[in-house]
Amino acid sequence: MKVLLVLYDAGSHAKDEPRLLGCTENELGIRKWLEDQGHELVTTSSKDGADSELDKHIVDAEIVITTPFHPGYISRERIEKAKNLKLCITAGVGSDHVDLNAANEHKITVAEVTGSNVVSVAEHVVMTILVLVKNFVPAHQQVVSGGWDVAGVAKDAFDLENKVVATVGIGRIGYRVLQRLKPFNVKEMLYYDYQPLPPDVEKELGARRVDSLEEMLGQADVVTINCPLHESTRGLFNKDLISKMKKGAWLVNTARGAICVEQDVADALKSGQLRGYGGDVWFPQPAPKDHPWRTMANKYGAGNAMTPHMSGTCLDAQIRYAAGTKDILQSYLSGKYDYRAQDVIVIDGDYATKAYGQRK
Ligand code: NAI
Repeated sequence: MKVLLVLYDAGSHAKDEPRLLGCTENELGIRKWLEDQGHELVTTSSKDGADSELDKHIVDAEIVITTPFHPGYISRERIEKAKNLKLCITAGVGSDHVDLNAANEHKITVAEVTGSNVVSVAEHVVMTILVLVKNFVPAHQQVVSGGWDVAGVAKDAFDLENKVVATVGIGRIGYRVLQRLKPFNVKEMLYYDYQPLPPDVEKELGARRVDSLEEMLGQADVVTINCPLHESTRGLFNKDLISKMKKGAWLVNTARGAICVEQDVADALKSGQLRGYGGDVWFPQPAPKDHPWRTMANKYGAGNAMTPHMSGTCLDAQIRYAAGTKDILQSYLSGKYDYRAQDVIVIDGDYATKAYGQRK
C-alpha cells in the first residue's frame, strides 16, 4: 500500500530538534513502522503546480497525509485522478484543504486529529491579543533597532482589562480562549455559535451568547475567530462585515486565512476601522512574498501581529498530532476502521455530523 506524506522541509532544524516531527526529515516518526508492515511511504514537500510530487504520487496512493501548516491541497481535480485514494488524514485540526464534497462523491474518508493542538492555538490567541492591545511588536522592534521613543509606542497601547472580547465559534479552541481570558477581568465575554454552550458551562465561563454575528461585532473591542473554514465562512470577514465592527477594534484570526478577505483587512487597518490584526493563518500557504498581511499596518505603522502558520505546530502539539495520525492509520490498516468519532470529518460518502462542534 502506498502512503503519501506531504509536510514542510525543516532542513538543519530537523537535526537541531528531533521532536520536530511534522517535517519531511522526521516524517511524523512513521517510516519504520509502516515499512515494517510492508507499506511504501513517499514523503515530499512538493505540493503546488501540476508537476509537483504530490500530483505525481497521488495517482496511485491509497492514503494521503498532510498538515494544515503546509497543506497539500486535495482538490476535486486531484481526487479525480487519485484512483486508489481511500483515506486523507490531516495531521492536525481543520481539513478544509480537502475538497470534502469531492471526497464524499468518491467515498474517501477524511479524518483529523481532533483536539491535538487546541491548547497550543488558544495560548497563541491569548498571546496575540495581548501583543496587539499592548502594542508589543513595534515596541520590541524599537529597542532592537537602537531606538528609545516611549511616547511613540505608548500612544497605541492599552489594557485588556475592561474591554469586551468576542469569539466567533466556541468549540474546543474558542472555549479555551475565553477560559484563559477570564482572569484578565475583561468587561464582558461574548460568543456567536450555532451551538450554544450548555447553560452550566456558559455560567461557569461567564460568557454571553449573542444571536446575531453583526450585533456581537458591534459591541466587541477584541474579536477572535475560532470557527472552521467552510462554505458559509469563506470570505466572511469582508469589507461589509468589518464595517459592522466597533471602530478601532482588534481582530485575531488563527482559524483559517480564507475566512477573511485579505485586501479588505489591510484596507481596514489603514483606514483605522481596525486598530490591529493578528494571527498565523494565510491563504494560500506558504504565503506569497507580496501578501498584503506581511506588511500591512495602521496609521502608526503598528497593529500587525502576524506569524507564519505555527500556533498549532509547537513541539508539544507535534507529538500529539503525530501520535493521533498513527492511531488513525492503525485503525485503517487493521481493517477495523475503529476511528475516534470526533476525528472523522467525512466517511462512507457523507459528512460525519458529530465531527465538528464537540467540546471534549
Ligand atoms: P471545533 O469543531 O471544536 O469548534 C468549532 C466551532 O465553530 C463549533 O462550535 C461550531 O459550531 C462553530 N462554528 C461552525 N461554523 C460557524 C459559524 N459560521 N459561525 C460561528 N461558529 C461556527 O474546532 P476547534 O478545534 O475549536 O478548531 C476551530 C478551527 O481552528 C479549526 O477548524 C481550524 O480551522 C482552526 N485551527 C487552527 C490551528 C492553527 O494552527 N492555527 C490549529 C487547529 C485548528
